[in-house]
Amino acid sequence: MTANEVTPTPIAPSSIGTSLLRRDGVEKVTGAATYAVEHPVTGADGRPPLHAWLVTSTVARGRVVAVDASAALDHAGVVSVLDHASAPRLADTSDRELAVLQDDAVGFRGQIVAVVLAETSESAREGAALVRVEQEAQPHEVVFDADSPTFAPEEVNGGSETDTLDGDPDEALARALVTVDATYTTPHEFNSPLEPHAATALWDGERLTLHDSTQGPRPVRGTLAPLLGLEEEQVRVLAPYVGGGFGSKGLPHAPEVAVALAAMTVPGRPVRLAVTRQQMFALTGYRTATRSHVRLGAHPDGRLEALRHDAVSQTSRIKEFAEQSAVPARVMYAAPHRATTHRVAELDVAVPSWMRAPGEMPGMFAHEVAMDELALHAGVDPVDLRVRNEPEVDPDTGNPWGNRRLVECLRRGAERFGWADRPVEPRATVDGEWWVGTGMAASTYPMLWMPGNVARIRSLDGGRYGVAIAATDIGTGARTVLAQIAADALGCPPEAIDLDMADSDLPFGSVAGGSSGTTSWGTAIVAAAQQFRADHGDHPDPGVETTAASGQYADMDGHALHSFGAVFCEARVHRYTGEVRVPRLLGVYSVGRVVNPRTARSQLLGGLVMGLSAALFEDGWRDPRTGHTVTQDLATYHVAAHADVRELDAEWLEESDELSTPMGSRGIGEIGIVGTAAAVANATYHATGVRVRDLPVTADRFL
Ligand code: MOS
Repeated sequence: MTANEVTPTPIAPSSIGTSLLRRDGVEKVTGAATYAVEHPVTGADGRPPLHAWLVTSTVARGRVVAVDASAALDHAGVVSVLDHASAPRLADTSDRELAVLQDDAVGFRGQIVAVVLAETSESAREGAALVRVEQEAQPHEVVFDADSPTFAPEEVNGGSETDTLDGDPDEALARALVTVDATYTTPHEFNSPLEPHAATALWDGERLTLHDSTQGPRPVRGTLAPLLGLEEEQVRVLAPYVGGGFGSKGLPHAPEVAVALAAMTVPGRPVRLAVTRQQMFALTGYRTATRSHVRLGAHPDGRLEALRHDAVSQTSRIKEFAEQSAVPARVMYAAPHRATTHRVAELDVAVPSWMRAPGEMPGMFAHEVAMDELALHAGVDPVDLRVRNEPEVDPDTGNPWGNRRLVECLRRGAERFGWADRPVEPRATVDGEWWVGTGMAASTYPMLWMPGNVARIRSLDGGRYGVAIAATDIGTGARTVLAQIAADALGCPPEAIDLDMADSDLPFGSVAGGSSGTTSWGTAIVAAAQQFRADHGDHPDPGVETTAASGQYADMDGHALHSFGAVFCEARVHRYTGEVRVPRLLGVYSVGRVVNPRTARSQLLGGLVMGLSAALFEDGWRDPRTGHTVTQDLATYHVAAHADVRELDAEWLEESDELSTPMGSRGIGEIGIVGTAAAVANATYHATGVRVRDLPVTADRFL
């Protein structure tokens, strides 16, 4: 059935704007919420699920010569071992990341080369350890550095242009009186959601049911069905509870294909696969390392005349992913002469993918540290420098701004943080054994709206409504805020909404990614609710329903729609050990109307913590001899812990953005991480006079 497309009109907030408790909060904290490998699934004959365990490659490039499963099959409980010779064939092997067990080629260390099925998780794990995989190693290249050969991708992540050029930036840079010319790097960073990737799959001979930990049940169905040679209706993906994703669960990855293939070998018997934390470092995407060469040319008062941001990242030879690090430089500041470029190095490594604010996060680290350096060279306060470079219209498109309030975020943040009291000179404040400094950075994230969303509204008994859309709540609060949006659109309290979501059998919902979930699903729910009221009035008989597809509401062609923010940080650097502490971190944001202050605050604080984590700790290391990610667990890949987070706060401007959504809201999932690492690095510079241009900002930099 194709639903009529309806473009909604703005709604008045009533439940929107209130701090409704999370609808699934009690289930989650009491353990009643069942995650992907906890669903009580039994097979057709009542037998319990089998457990799958992945066996992965130990060479970075080469081929599988032989898989000897005899010892594994002799182990108690082991049922079968799938390899590239015995696994079911996929209908399409063009996506080399997803072409699991289809041939003998090894494209990176940690690639799936066999899957063990056993009666228990323990026997599957032991069986996997007993599988002997003979591999032929071929010469590999896994080191990403300044000498890596690069190419220009056709486009970068998000579909943005690879390069842009306005005016003559090189000539303008050559004659600029105040300049910055520096290179900034960010390391490989790894999404580390609380719940690792996991799935339970059941093939009943006609239909595949997948309880998956994913950010998009419909996108997973849409990708897996054609790979498996099935109609979309033959695949059902459910994800009622997801323990975080940060982008790693935004696109299907190899483990989902592996568990589906495994299930198809045992019709009627469910198969559970829990990807280990260590396996996640190769199999579920990561943020590629980046190198940004930033050149700024300004007048003596700090006004930019020219900017160049030339960004390089690395990708896997088996599948391209081009981190769009220079894209935010296209919208941040006015400069008549400007160029941005992206180049990519292809290596024999795991496939990089989305990690919270891909592009914006590493790109704005580079850009906002460069702006701090420019402020110093021009003798202009860093907040004033940004205000002076405020563009009248979007420099990228020439469109008027929808709702650019960066200056107000900067001013509000400066006031609340006590910025005015800051000494101008770096290395000016000592408190006992600690150098003390403050720093700031701006942040931005585009308003993204995904087409194709469809919602169904049905009247129920007692004045209640059923609202259905295949959206998913990965811990953000989507389940709660969508009920609030539906309630306001239907003119009822949120308690009267029964929300059905996270099931691919429901009307189409797009991915919980690009900070576009609430924006896109919410717009569809409002469209369907308004059409429902037009069809059935405000006192409908129980059992009537309306399904509507979301027309494009957001004025993306007429206006530049972006969120903005300002991050302020106090850093302390130990004079003798170089230890860095961050006693204060504040973000002030313009993100449109906030639908639920409680869950929004969690999103923004979570983003700030993740930015702090990137600033100080996160650092993925690859062994050049083997391509192995040696920092493949949370003991060696450090993320910020409770003790690292001190005074932390986020606030937002009161506003409503009616050019973006009928709710007045924009996305909030990612902007909190953007600019945060730059604010921390800039604060450590102000504390010590030592400029760190390479993340993470570790103690050794100050010794
Ligand atoms: Mo986010 S990296 O788009 O899930």
